[in-house]
Amino acid sequence: MSEKRPRLQKRKSNPLDRWSIEDAADLYGVDRWGKDIFAIDENGNVVMCAGGKRIDLKSLTDEIRLRGLELPVLIRFRDILRHRFSVIHSAFGKAIEEHAYQGSFRPVYPIKVNQHRHIVEDIVTLGAEFHHGLEAGSKPELLIAIAYHRDPEAIIVCNGFKDREYVDSALLAQRLGQKVFLVVEKLAELGLILDRARAIKVEPLLGVRMKLSSRGRGQWESSSGDKSKFGLQAREILEAIFILRRRRMLDRLQLLHMHIGSQITDIQRFKQAAREACCIFREVSRLGAPINYIDVGGGMAVDYDGSRTNFPSSANYGPEEYAADIVDAVTNVCREASLPHPNIVIEAGRALVAHHSLLVVEALSSSDIENGLAPPPMPKKPHEVLVRMNEIVEGITAKNFQEAYHDAKQARQDALTLFNHGHLSLEDRAGVETGFRAACNRIVRHVRRLDYAPDDLAGLESILASTYFCNYSLFQSIPDHWAIKQLFPVMPLCRLDEKPTANAVLADITCDSDGVMDQFVDLRDVRHTLPLHPLKKGEPYYIGIFLIGAYQEILGDLHNLFGDTTVVHVSSTDGGYVIDKTIGGDTVMEVLAYVQFTRDGINAKLRDRVEEALRRGSLTLDQSAVLTRRFERMLDSDTYLAAD
Ligand SMILES: Cc1ncc(COP(=O)(O)O)c(C=O)c1O
Repeated sequence: MSEKRPRLQKRKSNPLDRWSIEDAADLYGVDRWGKDIFAIDENGNVVMCAGGKRIDLKSLTDEIRLRGLELPVLIRFRDILRHRFSVIHSAFGKAIEEHAYQGSFRPVYPIKVNQHRHIVEDIVTLGAEFHHGLEAGSKPELLIAIAYHRDPEAIIVCNGFKDREYVDSALLAQRLGQKVFLVVEKLAELGLILDRARAIKVEPLLGVRMKLSSRGRGQWESSSGDKSKFGLQAREILEAIFILRRRRMLDRLQLLHMHIGSQITDIQRFKQAAREACCIFREVSRLGAPINYIDVGGGMAVDYDGSRTNFPSSANYGPEEYAADIVDAVTNVCREASLPHPNIVIEAGRALVAHHSLLVVEALSSSDIENGLAPPPMPKKPHEVLVRMNEIVEGITAKNFQEAYHDAKQARQDALTLFNHGHLSLEDRAGVETGFRAACNRIVRHVRRLDYAPDDLAGLESILASTYFCNYSLFQSIPDHWAIKQLFPVMPLCRLDEKPTANAVLADITCDSDGVMDQFVDLRDVRHTLPLHPLKKGEPYYIGIFLIGAYQEILGDLHNLFGDTTVVHVSSTDGGYVIDKTIGGDTVMEVLAYVQFTRDGINAKLRDRVEEALRRGSLTLDQSAVLTRRFERMLDSDTYLAAD
């Protein structure tokens, strides 16, 4: 399926500030990490452009708000999901054609990546034409798979540790006309599965997870290798074959499974693992198991930073190369061992769903001290340390800026020590801090002209960074940024025809100093600040946090009791877009219920407090009425900050 990219008109650079939307695209890397799905239009707004359509994200957000929905809002684009299906299936289609491969491509969606019902429904619907199946790793996920899977050509893969209930349900699901593979993760599971299959008289479809020596690379590399907690080693695979032979059930072993981790950034790791897995396939086939599915697991990486490298937030390959290497590895081993081509299964989760979700947050205010506050008045008799700081600032030149930086830091440190010993006034301290900032501002101009910044000056941009306070919770919406410093593309959705002049970090509204996004994608390295525009009074400034469709929603937590955000599902139409679904965010009462508070219980406690205060006379009857009504209203409101 070929997709036409909308033609975006080029806007001429303004010769005065030499800034164009091409500069913005380059700065934020949108043409790299957002290739074919996001772009900047001639008005300087970000547009969703998958499938040749075009939706202006600034206008979309404005219109979402006009409907009475509050930010932050998570927007899921069906066009992008469709596009990702097409990218992955076209890649395998091409590889299969080029290798004259006889088997079929039968991918499954690992439900764990994003279990939300609306996503599972979309996956099942959009994946139907490709026979895209489902993968479950637990009992709840298995129930989702059984209930939602409809296609007898597609498969269900059951991974994860299993008990009798899990096994029975998977076996019985076969009676619904579904192809359900039970993948043996530990040898002990095999006996359980065989016993239950005999007891309920179902011929099981069996798979074995291979414990490969080849390892993935990156954050999740412990999912593979000899020490990984899943899978059977060579000796155990042999034992499984002996058991199956003894029980005359070797013909039920039809699938081999591997998974070397998520976000595998280096294609070499896949090549090595696929080769090892194919050799096991050759041997298991030689020993008599009719393997007709090879499942290479998940791990296809997302190029979050657009650098196309083996950096943890990137990938040095794309779906086409991945597909070609997998098909090539299986074809080669089949040729060498004269085996029929098995069907190829992949469990790509991240690569399928990450792109289609975007969080839109609003910057509420910024800490821009320089812009906001005038310098403090000079004390009548300024302290020596303040005089020294002012002299440093005045004396900064292209030749001495590094030395001046050291001197300014020393003066600031001296001032702090003096202050803590009671020898410096608050006015002097404020003057020194302002001077230090002025010095940094002057020095950074010199540093920016250098090809390489000396190590001790590299942190200057962070010192000068503004903090933009945004209405979101990092812990709820982008937990991997907090937990493992994973990078996600972030950029303003509008004003991209204007040069951004602030460098900022994005603080959330939790009461946790960790709730700050302070690492951003960069082509060569990691940026510690994000270029943004100064906020304008009365004009909303929307910032998009992109590619968050995989894992973030389900790993998110209720830190400070900020709950799920509002979600809207959007599809393009010929002339614009439609909002297919709106899913309200958690209300205050809903998050309170997660932590075992009940409405009646909390209302009763309030009433007691109010009555006590009325008796004491510290609250009037009118005030008690206002407080009670407000309390009741708040229980049903959103957990995030409401617009006035
Ligand atoms: C067994 C298995 N399959 C598939 C996946 C999905 O991986 P990814 O989202 O990286 O494609 C995982 C996640 O780690 C997994 O454990």
